[in-house]
Amino acid sequence: SQTVERNADGVVTVGGVDVKALAEEFGTPAYVLDEADFRARARAWRTAFGADADVFYAGKAFLSRAVVRWLHEEGLNLDVCSGGELATALSAGMPAERIAFHGNNKSPEEIERAVRAGVGRIVLDSFQEIVRVAHIARSLGKRQPVQIRVTVGVEAHTHEFIATAHEDQKFGIPLAGGQAAEAVRRALQLDGLDVIGIHSHIGSQIFDMSGFEVAAQRVVGLLKDVRDEHGVELPEIDLGGGLGIAYTSDDDPREPHEIAKALHEIVTRACEAARLRTPRISVEPGRAIVGPTAFTLYEVGTTKQLEGLRTYVSVDGGMSDNIRTALYDAEYSVALVSRTSDAGPMLARVVGKHCESGDIVVKDAFLPADLAPGDLLAVPATGAYCRSMASNYNHVLRPPVVAVRDGEARVVVRRETEEDLLRLDVG
Ligand code: LLP
Repeated sequence: SQTVERNADGVVTVGGVDVKALAEEFGTPAYVLDEADFRARARAWRTAFGADADVFYAGKAFLSRAVVRWLHEEGLNLDVCSGGELATALSAGMPAERIAFHGNNKSPEEIERAVRAGVGRIVLDSFQEIVRVAHIARSLGKRQPVQIRVTVGVEAHTHEFIATAHEDQKFGIPLAGGQAAEAVRRALQLDGLDVIGIHSHIGSQIFDMSGFEVAAQRVVGLLKDVRDEHGVELPEIDLGGGLGIAYTSDDDPREPHEIAKALHEIVTRACEAARLRTPRISVEPGRAIVGPTAFTLYEVGTTKQLEGLRTYVSVDGGMSDNIRTALYDAEYSVALVSRTSDAGPMLARVVGKHCESGDIVVKDAFLPADLAPGDLLAVPATGAYCRSMASNYNHVLRPPVVAVRDGEARVVVRRETEEDLLRLDVG
C-alpha cells in the first residue's frame, strides 16, 4: 500500500516526494518512512482485532516520538522493553496504561519508573522478578498489573515451527515441569501484584499459524490449571509478535484480518474445550507494522567489476544502518530509483563503507549494468530493526529518519553529527 511510483523523469516518488529531492534536502543514507502507509497498517491491525482485543506495537522494531503519536492516534498500545523506550513513549504522550513493559532483566530503577508511571502491565520473566516487582509496587503503595511470560516449547521462524525442545532460551518461564504454574501460584500470593494474564512470544518472521495454534493451546492449558487450582480465571492472554513481512517477492505474508480471525478461532476453540471464558487477546506486532513502511536511500560511491564473478556496488552506509544481512543472513531487494535504465542486468552485491568484508547490504541483486557513482539506490522493507539496531561502527554517523506524507517530507529523527559522537567522548 506504499505510494511508490515513478515520475515522468523516471525518478521514484514516495508519499508524493521524489527521491532526488529527498537526497538533496536530507542527504544519504536516509531512512524514508511513509507516514500514510504506517498509519494504514496500524489501523488495519487495530480494526482486525476489534474492540475485544488489544494491539501493542513492539517498539523495538522502530521507535520515535512521531511514531508514538501516530500509534496513539490510531488507537494502538505500545510494548517497550527498556527505560529508554519507556522514556520515549511517555515523552510523546502515550498514556502509561496503554504501555506494556517487557524484558528478561529490567533493572530495579526501570521497574520503579514503570510502576510510578502506572504502566498498564509489566510482563514478568523470572521468579526473582516476580518478587522484585511485587516489592517495588508495595513500597510505592501500588498494585501493579502483571502478565507472566511463559515458554511454551514452540519456536517458530518463517515457514516452519518446532514444537519441542525449545525451552533452552533466556526468555520466559517454562511450562514444562510445572514451573510456569508455580510462578503464577507465587505471583497470586504476593500483595502488590494483580496477575492479569499469561504471555507467550514464539519467534520472528513467522508465516505459518500452526506455531501460534500450539502456543495458544498450551497457554490455555495453563489458564485451566490455574482455574482448577486457585479458582481464578485469568482474564488476558498475549500471543506476542513475530508475524512475517515480504522482504523479497518469495515471501507471502498474511493480512492482519486473517491473522486476527485465526488467533480468535484458535483461542476460542481451546477455551471451549477447557470450559473457560475466552480471555481478552492481545498481540505485539512490530515488524508487520513498520517493516514495509520504510526504505533506505543510498548513493552509489563506487562500482568494482570482478571478472567472471560479480560487480561490487559500494553505497554510503552499510552494516551500521542495516546489520540484518550480516547478522541473520537476511535477504533484501534493491532498485535504482533516481533514473530508469535500458542497460541489461548485471549481477551485483551491494556493500557498505565499513572496514569489514561482511559489510553487505544486499547479497545478490540484479542492477542495471550502467550503474554509476551518484545513482540513488533504495532498499525496501527496512522499517523494522534497521534504525533501531543501527550502530556507530567506524564512527559512521547514524542516518536520519525522514517521514513523507502528502507531498511533504520532514525529519523525525535527525542525522547524527560528529558533534554528537564527540559529546560522549569525555576523556
Ligand atoms: N513481543 C516480544 C515479546 C518480542 O520479543 C518481540 C520481538 C516482538 C513482540 C515483536 O516481534 P516482531 O513482530 O517485530 O517480529 N532483531 C530481529 C528481531 C528480534 C525480535 C525480538 N523480539 C530482526 O531483526 O529480525
